[in-house]
Amino acid sequence: MFNVPKDAGQAPARLAESGYVPLADFLTAEGLTLLWQEAARLGDIALRRDFSMACMDDSPRRMTTLGGQMIAEKSQMIPRLYKGEELISLLGRLTGQDVAPVPDPMERHVLNILHQHGDTHGGHTDDYPYALVLFLEAPSDPEDGGLLEFTPHTPDLAALGTPAAVTAHHQAGDAYLLRSDTTAHRVTPLTRPGARRTVLNFAYTLPNHTVHKTNSADQLYR
Ligand SMILES: [Fe+2]
Repeated sequence: MFNVPKDAGQAPARLAESGYVPLADFLTAEGLTLLWQEAARLGDIALRRDFSMACMDDSPRRMTTLGGQMIAEKSQMIPRLYKGEELISLLGRLTGQDVAPVPDPMERHVLNILHQHGDTHGGHTDDYPYALVLFLEAPSDPEDGGLLEFTPHTPDLAALGTPAAVTAHHQAGDAYLLRSDTTAHRVTPLTRPGARRTVLNFAYTLPNHTVHKTNSADQLYR
């Protein structure tokens, strides 16, 4: 379902440098088709969200989401991929650490769909150390928005939108790995009607990781 990146050995250094590792063409053509079909099916029961996240500097959430608990109920493919030995072992190589599935089913694997003009997943940090984000749909033109923006070495949401922030464009089939608890990040608004961005976000933890849990996941995925 996914390709092992040729430069996997350089990933731990890249994570240390910026907190971010792009994984171009991560999904095989078959993997992308299967996951896209699964996401399209699950999208029918996903929920529209439109609010400001108080605990994340009132940053906007304009998106449609499906939480991990519902995905576990309705999909075999996604939970199997998420906790499969093949992926966990690859993530161990990419991080140089002993990554593990997170304890809270709601936060393990979530579906985020940006599909309306202006849709955005506003600035935040995650509860768990690593996010692997798999792109099932994305605007092919970076001008259409839906870009990842992140701030190397700082969880300060105020650094987003400043010259300290970095933006990255991804295509369907790509993925990225982010040190997501200590790196502020957001998805820039979709700027063209008809543009869509659908991702699966897989969260992973580390042994002895202390979760400073916010209620943000609850508001977005419950
Ligand atoms: Fe995140």
